[in-house]
Amino acid sequence: MSNRLYPSDSFEITQRKKDHIELTPEARTLTSTVDERFNYEPLFFTHPTPTANWPTKFLGFDLDLPLWISSMTGGVDHAKNINQNLAKLCGEFKLGMGLGSCRVLLDSRDRLADFKVRPFLGDQPLFANMGIAQVGELIIQNRSHQLRELLQELEANGLIIHLNPLQEWFQPGGDRFELSAFEILQRFLEDNDYPVIVKEVGQGLGPRSLAALLKLPIHGIEFGAYGGTNFSLLESLRNSESHLHKKPFINVGHTAAEMIDILNALPIHGKEFIISGGVKNVLDGYELKMRLKAPSLIGMASALLAPAQKGYEDLKAEFLQMREGLLVAKHILDLKDMT
Ligand SMILES: Cc1cc2nc3c(=O)[nH]c(=O)nc-3n(C[C@H](O)[C@H](O)[C@H](O)COP(=O)(O)O)c2cc1C
Repeated sequence: MSNRLYPSDSFEITQRKKDHIELTPEARTLTSTVDERFNYEPLFFTHPTPTANWPTKFLGFDLDLPLWISSMTGGVDHAKNINQNLAKLCGEFKLGMGLGSCRVLLDSRDRLADFKVRPFLGDQPLFANMGIAQVGELIIQNRSHQLRELLQELEANGLIIHLNPLQEWFQPGGDRFELSAFEILQRFLEDNDYPVIVKEVGQGLGPRSLAALLKLPIHGIEFGAYGGTNFSLLESLRNSESHLHKKPFINVGHTAAEMIDILNALPIHGKEFIISGGVKNVLDGYELKMRLKAPSLIGMASALLAPAQKGYEDLKAEFLQMREGLLVAKHILDLKDMT
């Protein structure tokens, strides 16, 4: 019920009544289009206030919403602006974020300003990001202390290590792994005790990889699932070389929904999760978060890129709509098979 009352003969109410009559033929749903995932419970619902939130713990941090800004950029001209806008959003609304790959900082600090966003975030979680191939090189060359120094310089709370073997295979001149990601991680974790999250970049992770990761002394796993931005596809688009035998690999992988089914059947050893990759709207994010039995955040990358590029006010407006949608979902929808 609206708290704005109009006299019954006001122009607005008359117009609305006219619209109802005119639009009725187009406003009919088909039973086949019902969203089968949720029970809809209007009886217990109140609309969220403009400042309502969903307090969430993640790796010991307090967030006001279970939302994580997934790793994207750094090292190109407009990255600084994008990262600062994303970090400002995390600071203002108590979220967390991963930086894009910080590889460029291993050889020189010329692009440091792109990544130095701690002042915008306050105490919210900030994770640096590095590819598994670079982590492997640093270990082989006994230089893994450089990562710790980088984290200190960026005032980051930990490191996200991304696994991207197919992307590297598609990328002209991409890295070739001599040690498996698992061997590199095992060796890396022997000497480094700061928080680590391991993620994929668009194919997700299968049951053997997930089960093995869960046993390692890492803090979390970010899905980077199939169904969203996919870096094998992206690299194949960048490259005109014929990929006849590679191209089918673009479509291998695991969706977030499938990864949740796998994880729900495994012992999770205290790990926490960022559900990312193809979370296209808040209903998808809500459903996936509610379905995973372990602590989790909803991770989003590409959906926030365009507004972050436009400017902070656009990003904030997009975020506020997402927050409202997530809160409406939380208070009016139950998962069907959880009740
Ligand atoms: C422009 C862009 C750059 C990205 N760069 C990185 C990166 O440097 N490191 C990384 O781990 N993931 C990177 N990703 C992958 C995202 O973190 C995320 O896993 C993936 O985009 C799926 O999320 P989405 O479907 O919401 O876009 C990037 C994604 C985008 C869109």
